[in-house]
Amino acid sequence: MSDKATLTLDGEQYDLPLVIGSEDEPAIDISSLRARTGYITLDPGYANTGSCQSSITYIDGEKGILRYRGIPIEQFANGPNFIEVVWLLICGHLPTTEEYTDFARDLTLHANLDEGMKSHFDSFPRTAPPMAVLSSMINTLSCFHPELLELEDTEQFRMAAARLISKIRTIAAYAYRHSTGQPYIYPDPHQRYVHNFLHMMFSQPYDQYVCDDLVRDALNLILILHADHEQNCSTSTVRMVASSGANLFTSCSAGVGALWGPLHGGANVAVMNMLEEIHKGNMTPEAYVNLAKDKESGVRLMGFGHRVYKDFDPRAKVLREVAERLFSQPGKKDPLLDIARKLEEIALQDPYFIERKLYPNVDFYSGIILRTIGIPTSMFTVIFAMGRLPGWIAHWWEQRRDANSRISRPRQIYTGNGLTDYVEMPSRKI
Ligand code: SDX
Repeated sequence: MSDKATLTLDGEQYDLPLVIGSEDEPAIDISSLRARTGYITLDPGYANTGSCQSSITYIDGEKGILRYRGIPIEQFANGPNFIEVVWLLICGHLPTTEEYTDFARDLTLHANLDEGMKSHFDSFPRTAPPMAVLSSMINTLSCFHPELLELEDTEQFRMAAARLISKIRTIAAYAYRHSTGQPYIYPDPHQRYVHNFLHMMFSQPYDQYVCDDLVRDALNLILILHADHEQNCSTSTVRMVASSGANLFTSCSAGVGALWGPLHGGANVAVMNMLEEIHKGNMTPEAYVNLAKDKESGVRLMGFGHRVYKDFDPRAKVLREVAERLFSQPGKKDPLLDIARKLEEIALQDPYFIERKLYPNVDFYSGIILRTIGIPTSMFTVIFAMGRLPGWIAHWWEQRRDANSRISRPRQIYTGNGLTDYVEMPSRKI
């Protein structure tokens, strides 16, 4: 591999240094480009542009590799609970027994919300989208914890991280309970992370939710698989907001907004709508795939394709196995899974998808699993946000401690009017 890049511009040659990552990913450092050449680069959607150096998650899209702090996500498929992975992402190593016990206790202690926050839930219309409630209530949370707005050291940061990780469950559950006119259910200090969330979602004052181990483990794994994904749209948003010096809560609240989009975290809802559309008989899987291939249709095969993965999304592989396990249970058969399998079979043999390297991504199976474990569709992207929160927190902290970090302020190429004079209103003509 060469040790520099040479750019020839207007007869001049410029040597640009290279940056090589710990997995030998090469990059050209263009941080001096404009000062030396007067040129900027242009890369809509940043498909070719690295925004930072990060040690949290590694993805190799061509090989379908995803590792959290070096550990392949396949190794989380049958084992740890989400809180271990939270600690791994935020602190950089798997927790010792003592670290885990202390952290889990902290999460249990801080699951409740200040009673003052309930009136904010009540002020939303019942039809308020849960992602809107989540985004605003994460910001509201900071008003009740002003001591966590400025994080001076690791101890304070971990305290703020624990508050957010613990309370996002309660906020999410209360958003759902409000939308369905049900009373808020307090967290149960005797239940672990995922069970406590399901308890707050589905228990009644007179009837405690009974958590099926399959359901608990499926949701635990979904949270783990969504926990981080390097510089995806929502995480890059969190880092962009963090770069201005904004606090952890508002940075994560901005991440919720970015995740809400149907091309990003909202895709799992779009997948369900697509499967339901086919299930209702309005269209065959073959017809839907053909529509998705037609640029004019504006339709996409939701849950397929990825900016980085040009082979199977490794998370989709794990989730497909979870789905097969779940639906092999008596009475758990779901016609939508058969439709998903048919769509996958058709698309994977279709030249349009093969040429563009479009494969199932994490969203293709997550929705079917969430629906089967009883999560309402309106909460699918909220669950994605709950899973992705530790990744956002870890990147926020990495951004804030990066000695080379500067406020993110991209350039542009201007294509508007040339020099134009102001004209008094009476003289203006269309
Ligand atoms: C997530 O970035 C992350 O890491 C995200 C994520 C995470 O964990 O944070 O992995 C989570 O967001 C997963 C993606 C969920 N979104 C969807 O499933 C929506 C459907 N997928 C697409 O919209 C699309 O594939 C994207 C948004 C995921 C990726 O878009 P890109 O990289 O900008 O690709 P593109 O739009 O430039 O498409 C390249 C070509 C185009 O055709 P041509 O112009 O070359 O002829 O592929 C086509 C596209 O039309 N294409 C699709 C398609 N996805 C891409 N055609 C039909 N169906 C699709 N799903």
